[in-house]
Order: sequence, then C-alpha cells, then structure tokens
Amino acid sequence: MRSPVTLSAWIVLALTGTSLVFPLMDAAPSSPTGPLSVTIIGPETVTAGEDVNFTCSADCSPSCTYTWMLEGQTADGKVATVTPSGAAKSLEMECTALNPESGKSLKMAKTVQVNNPLSVQPKPNTLQSFKKPFLLICVGADPTATIEWYKDGHLLTIDTQMTLPADNSTLKFNSLLPSHGGLYQCISEKGSSRIISVGYMLTSGPWSVKITGPKMAAAGERTDFTCSADCSPSCTHGEVFKNGGDDPSEQGGFPSGSYSQRQTVIRWTPDQPDTTQVFTCVVENTAARRSATYSKTVKVIKPSGPDLQPSPHPKDKSGSMALKPRTALCLAFSVGLLVHRAL
Ligand SMILES: *[C@@H]1O[C@H](CO)[C@@H](O)[C@H](O)[C@H]1NC(C)=O
Ligand SMILES: *[C@@H]1O[C@H](CO)[C@@H](O)[C@H](O)[C@H]1NC(C)=O
Repeated sequence: MRSPVTLSAWIVLALTGTSLVFPLMDAAPSSPTGPLSVTIIGPETVTAGEDVNFTCSADCSPSCTYTWMLEGQTADGKVATVTPSGAAKSLEMECTALNPESGKSLKMAKTVQVNNPLSVQPKPNTLQSFKKPFLLICVGADPTATIEWYKDGHLLTIDTQMTLPADNSTLKFNSLLPSHGGLYQCISEKGSSRIISVGYMLTSGPWSVKITGPKMAAAGERTDFTCSADCSPSCTHGEVFKNGGDDPSEQGGFPSGSYSQRQTVIRWTPDQPDTTQVFTCVVENTAARRSATYSKTVKVIKPSGPDLQPSPHPKDKSGSMALKPRTALCLAFSVGLLVHRAL
C-alpha cells in the first residue's frame, strides 16, 4: 500500500510533467512529516550460516535515513544483510528511521528465530560411563567444510585420551574422564559461512563418591568425615549425610552424641561405645539429573588412652573423656554432653 505522502508526491510529479526537480520542490511540504511508522520486512525465521536481507521502511517526507542495530553492531542503510552464526537461538534487530529535515526519529525492533542445522550429538545408543570410550559427532556439517571443536567456548585442546579423525567430524574419547566434562560445540567454516553448532553438555559424575574418615570412632572423641565426588559441571553443594544405626529400625535416626554438618564435612563425637553408625552421602549432579550415594559404616569403640578404665557406667565414660580433651572444641562438646546428661 502506498502511503498518502508518497501518493500525493507522485500525483504532483505526474501533474507537473517531466521535470524531476520541479515536482520534488513542489512536493516537499513546508513542514517535514514522519517518520510515522517504521516496518522491518524480512523472514520470521532464518538459518545459521545463510545470508538474509531485512529491509526497513518508514513513512517520511522527505525520505528518511536508516540505521540498524544488529547483534551489538550498527549499520547504515535501508537494507541490512545478516548471516546468523547459530550461537544464539534468536536474532534481535532494531531499525531507526530518521527524518533528516526535522531530526525526528522512530525505532522498530524485531526478533527472529534462528534455525541451526549444526549440532554436536553423542553417537546414538552409547552409554556415557567413567573410563569407557565415548563419541561425539558434529552433525549437519557440509562435508567440504572445515570443522573445529570448541569446549566451554575455547578451542578444544586435544588430550591423550581424545582422538580426532583427519576431517574432524567426530571427537572420540578413548577413556572418559571427569576432566572431559563441559559444553562441546563444533564450528563449520566454508568460504564466508561460519556456523557455530548447538552445543552438547557432556556431564560427568557423580563419580568416585567417597566418604573419607576412619572406620572406627572412639566415644567422646571428635571424628571428621568428608564426602567428596567428581562432577562436571560441579555437583550441587548440597551433599547430604543421612544417618542411621545398624538396626534397620533405627535407619534415619540421628547419630547419638554430638553431631554437626557443614557442607560436605560432618563432625561427630559419638557417646555410645559398641554401636555402629551408617553415614550416607548423597551427591547430585543437577545438570545431568544424576545422583549417587555412598555409605560408610562406622563402629564406635571405647575411648582410647592410657587412663582408660572400662566401666559400664556412662558417667565414667564421660569422665575419661574429660581427661583426654583433644581440642577446645571437643572439650566444649564434652561439657555440653555432661550438662545434657545432668538434665
Ligand atoms: C541482499 O541484498 C543485496 C543487495 O542489497 C543482494 O545483492 C543480495 O543478493 C541479497 N541477498 C539475499 C539473500 O537476498
Ligand atoms: C581440524 O581441526 C584443527 C584445529 O582443531 C584445524 O586446524 C584443522 O584445520 C581442522 N581440519 C579440518 C579438515 O577441518
């Protein structure tokens, strides 16, 4: 549809005959109009690596000038040619029409979706397991294009456990290690067309979940246990210690004695010799939606030390404990226990 302004200009042009200068002078209104509305003409979806033109237009008298803002860059002109890289799922653009006469301007923004034909995918039907081979494929690349692999946004450093064929089309892990975890992307380049693939998040773990600490803990002595695991991306720091006695009916019960947990470390001062305690650590890799658990059984033994006088009375146990304070903290716990017992 022709705009009223253009239409009237055209009529004036037709009426006044052959001279181009004359009607233009006549058509130019004493007061400039517009920009009244700005439109961006172009497709709603574009394909990574392919050129596409977007045209900006506006109702202006005299003609507007146009400035584009595309992916953080500015360009002048009515038509903007874009080649989306595929790094983003959508492309945002903004066109500003400026009436040079009045200095008035108007903006219009448009967002289009980017289809990416290139992606990194694991070899179908392969399991991802620790120290086992694993294969990633750069899917959708032009066979004549140059392919490069990126990990977490940086050119991939090939380690001794990785193999790339001459055409770089696949990335083979001979033995999958925790250090291999990360976001993998391939980039295909052919002529001026450069496509950044949809990434594949290679998650690893939780692997090697373990609880470090002794198998035996002496009543009245503080013992530390730490849960650790290998994860990529890093495991949630909400590692949990569950606990429960050896008697199934006691599972989930709080360990007797003094107990505290801080992130992955628990500090425990047991108070009942000849019992066992099961600690369970739950590690979660939220990105991979996987979790792993590790349980450790700890036997509580009688307090150690030369002054030890085995006695069935708990009071004596507390006494021997007080004689052998390991740390100020332990002493504080002991006092706490004594007070607790007195109540
Ligand atoms: C984009 O426009 C330019 C001229 O402005 C033209 O040469 C080119 O072929 C156009 N590209 C497409 C994909 O239409
Ligand atoms: C393979 O990747 C390397 C860099 O990792 C690059 O230098 C080389 O050109 C690529 N070869 C092909 C055929 O894509």
